[in-house]
Amino acid sequence: MNYDIIVVGSGIAGLSFALKCSKLGHRVAILTKKTSSDTNTNHAQGGIASVTSSADDFESHVRDTLIAGDGLCDSSVVESIVRSGPEQIKNLIAEGVKFTPASDGSYELGREGGHSQRRILHVKDYTGRAIEEALLKCVSADPKISLFEHHFAIDLITESKAGGEGNHIVGIYVLDNTTGKIKTIKTRVVMLASGGTGCAYLYTTNPTIATGDGIAMAYRAGAQVSNLEFIQFHPTALYSTDGERFLISEAVRGEGAILRNANGEAFMKSYDPRADLAPRDIVARAIDHEMKRLGSAHVWLDITKLSSQTLQDRFPQIYNHCIEKGIDISKDFIPVVPAAHYMCGGVKTDINAATNIPGLYACGEVACTGLHGANRLASNSLLEAVVLSDNGAKAVDEYLKTASFTDTALPEWKDGDVRVPDERVVLHHNSDELKRTMWDYVCIVRTNKRLERAMNRILNLEREINDYYWNFKIEPTLLEVRNLVLVAKLIVKSAMARKESRGLHYTLDYPNKLPEAIPSVFSKADEK
Ligand code: SIN
Repeated sequence: MNYDIIVVGSGIAGLSFALKCSKLGHRVAILTKKTSSDTNTNHAQGGIASVTSSADDFESHVRDTLIAGDGLCDSSVVESIVRSGPEQIKNLIAEGVKFTPASDGSYELGREGGHSQRRILHVKDYTGRAIEEALLKCVSADPKISLFEHHFAIDLITESKAGGEGNHIVGIYVLDNTTGKIKTIKTRVVMLASGGTGCAYLYTTNPTIATGDGIAMAYRAGAQVSNLEFIQFHPTALYSTDGERFLISEAVRGEGAILRNANGEAFMKSYDPRADLAPRDIVARAIDHEMKRLGSAHVWLDITKLSSQTLQDRFPQIYNHCIEKGIDISKDFIPVVPAAHYMCGGVKTDINAATNIPGLYACGEVACTGLHGANRLASNSLLEAVVLSDNGAKAVDEYLKTASFTDTALPEWKDGDVRVPDERVVLHHNSDELKRTMWDYVCIVRTNKRLERAMNRILNLEREINDYYWNFKIEPTLLEVRNLVLVAKLIVKSAMARKESRGLHYTLDYPNKLPEAIPSVFSKADEK
């Protein structure tokens, strides 16, 4: 395998980027650790925020994004992404995405927390899946794009790692899960589009693939990571005793659903004048407070004001899932709890998806562009993914044309005398302990003591997992736990460094905001 461009991840960011590079004449390989549609995108229900109606304008979308981001957004990035939205929506439609139409021939627009206008284009309540299917169809018909399933990216190879002078990307090590062999692949560009890190937490709306692989790999290679303390907890995941957390889209509140506490009281008005449609950090904290105050395992979401037929038309996936669980949402309140949902920070990039390592790009949830700040505005993530994949493709095209490359021999992966593991229980134990630690100590409400407790345990887990990594044969679970432990350590480190409460980072020890909003930035170089 020898490609100029390798994409890691097959969600909306990776697929869009590959298609755009192909249009510019490049051959691209997409690597995905499971199957092509095992992605976070596939689980996105709400939709994609963009200004498409005459009742809306760019200024309000920018303002809503900045308010949600609580002072930490990069306003020029927000402006640029919001203004590029409509063109990218047209692209998605051309690529075959069929957004739900309105009766007047335009598109039906949903509303979610923090938006002052209806501006969410959606495909009923399975927008992510519809986009994923359309893009995968385009990718499979494109002869310049090869998609490799069951290929787990382990680590990036920079020129200095290969014994040279420079720091640019020259290759990548990849585990082929079907053979168990490690491939050393030459490439000039790697686009990380590997999604988020929800699986660092015990309860998450994310699929099991969300293990922070891209952030961990980039950090190990020397990339800067930013704002990792800002973990977004979705306020309304379906509560169930088996630990599964099925997403109940915020669009349900957009259509009038009301949160009620264990006593049946609507409580959001007493927390924020925007009530149930306040930004997610505020709603998740209010729910957490009500659950603790009344000692309840969940709160209720009440959408019984809508008829069964309306609910089945607008929210078929949610309606049917709840019916399977014995809940008729047209008659019954839905038991809901917050769950880890979205990483607002990530690998630091500019507006062209470029990181501080030449040849390394990042796009989608894995990246931190400055759009989300301290709290992402609902449905801005798919928008960011399509805009940055377009900017990134143009930047990569330029990089390949202008950068000078020497033919570097890559160091082959060394398996050494590693053994087949006889203690796999370590992996499962460490993964469980990590998720429990993050949930109990690094959740919606933080304190110095909780963060210290978490860091002590994580450092212990890190020592054990690294020891395991160097002594036993590589396997996907090992790679995932190793990545999760590193990302969890970075989340806690970033949270400890922020001596204020802002957006999604709320700590009882520093309940106020500092006058100046400063992004957190870390890289491996700081460890020395
Ligand atoms: C939702 O549908 O509530 C999730 C959408 C998002 O996270 O932006």
